[in-house]
Amino acid sequence: MKTRTLPALFLLMLSFTLTSCLEDKIDVRYTTYTGQEYEAISAALNLPNGRIDYSVELPEHMIALGMAPPEINNAKATLGRVLFYDNKLSRNQAVSCASCHHQQLAFSDDKAFSEGFDGQLTLRNSLALGSVANFKSSYEGGGGNNAGPPTQRQFFFWDERAHSIAEQSSLTIQDDIEMGMDLNELAGRLEQVPYYRVLFNKAYNTEAVSPAMITDALQEFLNSIVSTRTRFDDGLAAAGGDESRDFSSFTAKENQGKALFIQHCASCHGANMSVSRESLANNGLDETYTDPGVGAITGNPADIGKFKVPFLRNVALTAPYMHDGRFATLDEVVEHYNSGVNKHQNLDHRLRAPDGDSPRRLNLSSDDKAALVAFLETLTDEELVTASRFEDPFR
Ligand code: HEC
Ligand code: HEC
Repeated sequence: MKTRTLPALFLLMLSFTLTSCLEDKIDVRYTTYTGQEYEAISAALNLPNGRIDYSVELPEHMIALGMAPPEINNAKATLGRVLFYDNKLSRNQAVSCASCHHQQLAFSDDKAFSEGFDGQLTLRNSLALGSVANFKSSYEGGGGNNAGPPTQRQFFFWDERAHSIAEQSSLTIQDDIEMGMDLNELAGRLEQVPYYRVLFNKAYNTEAVSPAMITDALQEFLNSIVSTRTRFDDGLAAAGGDESRDFSSFTAKENQGKALFIQHCASCHGANMSVSRESLANNGLDETYTDPGVGAITGNPADIGKFKVPFLRNVALTAPYMHDGRFATLDEVVEHYNSGVNKHQNLDHRLRAPDGDSPRRLNLSSDDKAALVAFLETLTDEELVTASRFEDPFR
């Protein structure tokens, strides 16, 4: 009895281990580290001694848009993930990137303004890193938008002042409110840490850490984040990539919301959630802007109140909303577009009434508003928010 059930049990356990490894994209056949290296890693980190696969795949309907998945180097992405979760990146070792970008919130924060290393608050709402299908494919150099006119290209931050994740990370780490850490000093700090000696060696074949390696590895990790497995993507794939068709997998309400979104919102946010239609706009939040947005960078009065048109993937998880987190719920957001758009000299033409001057009013019924919210809730990617390859690796 025993002898017969044991092998069966073993096989069952093995197949469990194998399938869960496949799900988590961890390949147990490879050993990444030597015994000594793995000891240094394991003292602080909960990483498997196998290959973690960070490779990015995009579904057909995204490839058809001209998007190309980035090549990801697993050793760099692993290092980038450890850096992302490490408090050592801030001056007094109080915060990490993840303090303001939580995986379960699609890498956003649930506060309007986040707390920096010495308790000061950020000037804007943390941006969700999981709102794009994939940074490299949707923002920079990955096909998609870059094939289109420059006005449709997206860059980093609410005012698009950074042009790559590496540039963004360098600004963030050295920001007086966010992390307050000099990059050269940080390189020196990381060189003293046994697990970084191993991780930098694997990624860059050296233990001598440079600022460029730090920001490059962070970039690799962020570029490995993909949000492609939503109910919306399933529906779009089944509809042959045509977002205007009713999705058979959607409820009537969700399809109604999708149609309303295409009618009133897609001219800026795009209907496929992967390639944007408009990069920057003034969406009528205020009559007088305390934060001028792009206007503060260009000094051009015509840019006052212009902010990034964000992608809306995982938007149900990323409250509060807008650059200052003024809206607590999606209902409030929809009500803004329905009845609350303010008059402003820079108000986008798409949000103006036919007279070209006064703000547009949508006059949506409560049923329509609920449908729009139901549609926005189909954009959640459960794999992204639970994937172990994106989790905090620290013990
Ligand atoms: C103290 C909170 C805080 C910390 C720490 C922090 N961020 Fe952010 N992050 C923000 C805020 C706030 C914004 C939006 C700022 C703006 O637009 O002016 C942002 C924006 C971003 C963006 C731009 C996303 C987009 O779509 O434009 C990226 C990428 C990013 N952060 C990555 C990181 C990385 C990597 C780290 C660690 C090196 C980090 N953040 C640390 C709060 C934080
Ligand atoms: C004129 C272009 C434009 C149109 C049309 C538009 N939006 Fe926006 N949307 C923006 C801009 C710009 C922002 C960011 C504004 C800011 O924070 O200052 C934004 C922000 C949002 C946000 C907040 C996202 C976040 O992460 O904080 C949501 C949700 C949203 N829009 C939904 C919609 C819906 C729903 C519609 C249609 C009813 C719509 N938008 C129509 C330009 C537009």
